[in-house]
Amino acid sequence: MKGVLLAGGTGSRLYPLTRITNKHLLPIYDRPMVEWAIEALVSASITDLMLVTGGTHAGEFLRLLGNGHEFGIDRLSYGYQDRPGGIAEALGLAERFADGEPTLVMLADNVVERTIKPMVDAFTAEPTGARILLTPVEEPAHLRHLGVPEIDDAGRVVRILEKPEDPPSSYGVTGIYCYSPDVFDIIKTLEPSGRGELEITDVNNHYVGEGRMRYDVLEGFWGDAGESIDAYYTVNDFVRAYGANKA
Ligand code: DAU
Repeated sequence: MKGVLLAGGTGSRLYPLTRITNKHLLPIYDRPMVEWAIEALVSASITDLMLVTGGTHAGEFLRLLGNGHEFGIDRLSYGYQDRPGGIAEALGLAERFADGEPTLVMLADNVVERTIKPMVDAFTAEPTGARILLTPVEEPAHLRHLGVPEIDDAGRVVRILEKPEDPPSSYGVTGIYCYSPDVFDIIKTLEPSGRGELEITDVNNHYVGEGRMRYDVLEGFWGDAGESIDAYYTVNDFVRAYGANKA
């Protein structure tokens, strides 16, 4: 399976820190943020990676990561997003890189305590449709910042709502997704959302509608370090105390 790390966007929720650098280069404990996502993929044996970024600090990633070998990456490709047109648009830039293979996509501001290997193994065993990783979230206020699945009595996802006023479950959709190669055809059919972006939730709802979406529930801590300054520090404090990407 190939891996795509998305590290573009404006990082506006972390202004003014992100005026002078890309969000994913800010420190989480003792490393730049993006390195935790790289470790998550490499430790799940995904070592053929593409990093998609954009903006004026894109060159810094090359300086940090080089050819990636130091980080356990076998082959590292780079993609450049001309404008922050959404997560799905950024993923669309990886079509030639994926080259017909299943792909694991990770938002580079996501940090996990426990390995994502179970999800990767499950998708490798059955690489059809899509697979999302859910995390239990107690607070409705937090869920309003995330994608939230509605789950029926049989445990099936019936739809995903992006940043819902009234969250239909107590699970957040993490920024870690597995897709079969037809994801790139789906992206081409998307229309920009109200905020002018191609939304990953629209991609996921496409698979839900076709009955081709499965999910896993993540164990342990999950954080989106780009969600707010407070979330950024919550993730920092957690990683400093307990580490990340543990087996
Ligand atoms: O973190 C989990 C959440 O991520 C999910 O629950 C949501 O369903 C999903 O939409 C996403 O929400 P965010 O509001 O956190 O997305 P954000 O716009 O912050 O983008 C997340 C990452 O995607 C960011 O770290 C960089 C990358 N990105 C984003 C945009 C808009 C790009 O590479 N290019 C882009 O144009």
